[in-house]
Amino acid sequence: MSNYDLVIKNANVLTSSDNYTADIGIKDGKIVEIASSIDGDNVYDAGGKYVIPGGIDVHTHMDMPFGGTFSSDDFETGTKAAAIGGTTAIIDYAVQPQGKSLNETIEIWSQKAEGKAVIDYGFHLGVTKLNDQTREELPVLLKNGFPTFKVFMVYDGMRLTDKELLEILQIAKDHDGLVCVHAENYDSINYNINKLLNDGKTEPLYHAISRPQKCEAEATNRAVKLAEMLDAPIYIVHVSNQEAADVIAKSRKNGFKTMGETCPQYLLLSIENYKEENFNGAKYVMSPPLRDGFNNELLWQSLRLGKLQTVATDHCPFFMEQKRMGIDNFTKIPNGAPGVEPRMALIYNYGVNEGKISLGKFVELTSTNPAKIFGMYPKKGTIAVNSDADLVVFDPNKEVTLSVDNLHENVDYTPYEGYKVKGYPVATFSRGELIAENGEYVGKDSRGQLLKREKPEVL
Ligand code: URP
Ligand code: ZN
Ligand code: ZN
Repeated sequence: MSNYDLVIKNANVLTSSDNYTADIGIKDGKIVEIASSIDGDNVYDAGGKYVIPGGIDVHTHMDMPFGGTFSSDDFETGTKAAAIGGTTAIIDYAVQPQGKSLNETIEIWSQKAEGKAVIDYGFHLGVTKLNDQTREELPVLLKNGFPTFKVFMVYDGMRLTDKELLEILQIAKDHDGLVCVHAENYDSINYNINKLLNDGKTEPLYHAISRPQKCEAEATNRAVKLAEMLDAPIYIVHVSNQEAADVIAKSRKNGFKTMGETCPQYLLLSIENYKEENFNGAKYVMSPPLRDGFNNELLWQSLRLGKLQTVATDHCPFFMEQKRMGIDNFTKIPNGAPGVEPRMALIYNYGVNEGKISLGKFVELTSTNPAKIFGMYPKKGTIAVNSDADLVVFDPNKEVTLSVDNLHENVDYTPYEGYKVKGYPVATFSRGELIAENGEYVGKDSRGQLLKREKPEVL
């Protein structure tokens, strides 16, 4: 009788800091031994391929109400797609509905996820109302496994004022939490929208024109300065351009606890995508919008130099039929796009293969830093004894042409249609169970567990 439930043999173990060959012994969902040779009854031969810590996508929106509809992946379809793509944990945004408390919000999102998610999941609370009840709830939630939350500076019914953002930053600082901020300037967007619509400019491209780079950079600067005033940690989500990234870099250089995330769409796509004909530009309507192409390279540079800390996806898919709600008016197009499944392959191919980031950086940006910043390390985000056996066998030679036909997200397009990648996940293990293999979900249903997270780390 073996000491292990599973042994992964001949692994080229790749972490954010190491790269070596070993066997990995797994028992009760945890890594219990890493050694040059381990024997067991149940063996998976990695055949010298990379074995990396499971991807962690800290920015998803499954089954999320937005603009009069719901994002089209629920926790089952979205996490199955994530697993196939080499992601073993997500943190989804549980956005407080109007009139609901934060505890009720957790309840609503738990009901969405329980019995559906197949990988482990946590929730950031999207705080949309600051009142006496929320003020009481926040410190308790921060201590009880929900140490991070999001403030929107835009979107009617969701946004908070600067005063409220300041107060939340203080609460987070006092209780070891972290505030994630969607930074765009609300008033300037409305001003631009009115002008554009009055001029009859209704097509998807004008979504981007209405929310220019400076609109994001200004709000990023404001949020960062508010955090600096309090010396509170802050994490800016979905940074789309270099001007906003530079605000974060400067704040970090000055010793503040400022961090930032970007996403594959801002590294690979551009404002040109909105010009696709027949309303196809709507595929890319997201906030912040795609930018001038020169930003792509500059954002890669920011990642390489440690000026931005993570790559998440902001996965928030809508079918084209849903996008057509805005056929006559770009402001009615639901904001968001898919991406949870191809993230690992995209960052490997366009980052590592193209010489923009190192192998270690690839793991750091997609798994280790997310685990550290969001209070899951070293349970997740690394390959070490006592860590969860969330492992991905990644074949650096497997070539795939991404297409809606070979991805599993519940949506009828991918922004990455026709993108060729070399390097793809071929097996995904979650807590020691093989859950995805060669593009198929092979695990049990509804096996995902709610992640109660610890104190965020400031990187
Ligand atoms: O367009 C986006 N990003 N949709 C999802 C909601 C958000 O702002 O993150
Ligand atoms: Zn956002
Ligand atoms: Zn988002």
